[in-house]
Amino acid sequence: MAEVIDGAAIAKRIRGELAHLISAKKLQPGLAVVLVGDNQASEVYVRNKGRASEETGILSETHRLPAATTQDELLALVAQLNADKKIHGILVQLPLPPQIDAQAIIAAIDPDKDVDGFSPVNIGRLSLGLPCFVPCTPQGCMILLREVEPHLAGKRALVIGRSNIVGKPVAQLLLAANCTVTIAHSRTRDLADECRRADILIAAIGKPAFVRGEWVKEGAIVVDVGINRIADPALPGKTRLVGDVDFKGAAARAAFITPVPGGVGPMTIACLLKNTVQSAEKAR
Ligand code: GUN
Repeated sequence: MAEVIDGAAIAKRIRGELAHLISAKKLQPGLAVVLVGDNQASEVYVRNKGRASEETGILSETHRLPAATTQDELLALVAQLNADKKIHGILVQLPLPPQIDAQAIIAAIDPDKDVDGFSPVNIGRLSLGLPCFVPCTPQGCMILLREVEPHLAGKRALVIGRSNIVGKPVAQLLLAANCTVTIAHSRTRDLADECRRADILIAAIGKPAFVRGEWVKEGAIVVDVGINRIADPALPGKTRLVGDVDFKGAAARAAFITPVPGGVGPMTIACLLKNTVQSAEKAR
């Protein structure tokens, strides 16, 4: 039976360390979060980011813009935040409404304030192995992995999902850690076979319980990035969160597994705060 990796506890520890660093170095980091429209999930994420910032001693401002915001209006806000000395991190919550070109907005964020690590400059630096803001969810996955397995070199890692936010950057980080990396996606043949070979399995597909327990290699480390809201069969009318992995089936075979909720999710926020503090230190 797998040991469950307690992401909530590890995230709390990191936030405590950041709070200590902020007060010891007398920093005043500032994070601006921009939310366009009224996506329910984004609303929850943005609220959690704001609360976690305040608790850690980071000045947080949330900019809520209507769903009909134009690209030029959003670019103007980004330019204003780029120039604002109080602000060390800018996060534009994705997804954006269809009239806005998300790539153009991300590219307009000053790379030195791009605490999401999504801008072309930071992604380029990541793939070159140069110092950069490491995207938060992939960074969180690596911290969780290293927590239970410090020796990653030579391990076979399978990343399921090729998004710019998780799949591609986490594959870069695993490669930098000397893993043998495979990226699987919707067109992959024999996904079950790929899974059975993986010492490390990162699931970032966005489909509830898509990875079946019997696909998991005995003794593998499973990191479940999925956050899927489904109807709760036990409580009619209620919903609950599940990951991309069939937790029960996978836990019967894996050595370590992250839960949903309480695994990768809290780590994403902790890493956002970490990047913001790093940015404030650099600005000083
Ligand atoms: N939407 C889902 N995850 C993220 C994230 O990490 N950053 C931003 N900006 N938007 C997201």
